[in-house]
Amino acid sequence: MEQKLLFNPEGDDSLETRQIIRGNSTNIFNLNNVRYQWANSMYRNMMANFWIPEKTDLSSDLESYKRLTVEERQAYDGILSFLIFLDSIQTNNLSNINDYITAPEVNLLLAIQQYQEAIHSQSYQYAIESIIPADRRNAIYDKWRQDKVLFERNKYVAEIYQDFLGDSSDENFYKVIIANYLLEGLYFYNGFNFFYNLASRHLMMGTSEIIRYINRDELTHCVLFEFIVREIREIDPDFFPPAEVEQMFRTAVDQEIAWTDHIIGDGVLGVSEETTEMYTKWLANERWNKLGFEGKLYDGFDKNPYKHLEKLADTEGEGDVKSNFFESTVSAYNQSSVLDGWDDF
Ligand SMILES: [Fe+2]
Ligand SMILES: [Fe+2]
Repeated sequence: MEQKLLFNPEGDDSLETRQIIRGNSTNIFNLNNVRYQWANSMYRNMMANFWIPEKTDLSSDLESYKRLTVEERQAYDGILSFLIFLDSIQTNNLSNINDYITAPEVNLLLAIQQYQEAIHSQSYQYAIESIIPADRRNAIYDKWRQDKVLFERNKYVAEIYQDFLGDSSDENFYKVIIANYLLEGLYFYNGFNFFYNLASRHLMMGTSEIIRYINRDELTHCVLFEFIVREIREIDPDFFPPAEVEQMFRTAVDQEIAWTDHIIGDGVLGVSEETTEMYTKWLANERWNKLGFEGKLYDGFDKNPYKHLEKLADTEGEGDVKSNFFESTVSAYNQSSVLDGWDDF
């Protein structure tokens, strides 16, 4: 892959020759001429999701945290450690991908995504400062240094990102795109469900509200990368070799299950090693098909064991995030900036 030129007087911005990769963009944001129409809808959706972490009141979470069991507190802290890693590396790496995307309407979306990941990083700071005693805060940020399971999975995705920085081959590019998709589409969700589980018992309600805002953003990021993969496959059907992509999915699933068992296990009400496996493999099947690949990765994993939590996640129902985004028909999506649905609980 060739990194695009920043200043490119010989560039050609015509819609006929515009391509998502390997194009010849001048980098001018002439957004009156857009080839990828889905990008217009996605821009509006992503901007409509704007939120500010500090507007969520976390004062009751401080008391709620003291009522958690030891296992729940350990899971709460550990999941934050992992989410902090995910959003940190995303904030830092998205611009590296953007350097190779040659459609300005898509460059714009990746820039918005990058800024949203920065807000997510700030929201963890806010939660930690509000809830965790000062002498334990750094331990959450540093957990990956001591925890082998966390270190190994962080290493897996970080090395793929790092390899692309060292060598921008086609192979490293498809891997960085798929790793990004798995991060956005698979890695977050057992963690998210842990918080919704607590919220279903009226615990850590403020944190769960913040998680819902992050969840809503992550779903748009997931869909953005579905579009990117599909558009690249349009111009180069062999760009993503299915066997290798499948192997990346399986590694991600194995690590997600191992990590979730390690940090949550069977010690938290509503989550077990069985539901973790069911959920993760069901989700992987969904994500696999959304990239346009056929069949199922995991036979017999057709059900979401956490369906009852979707109301808390704000991902079900009329005008919801999930059904529209899973269909990749973002034009129908009209999300206000304020979440609703809490009153039912
Ligand atoms: Fe994020
Ligand atoms: Fe994201």
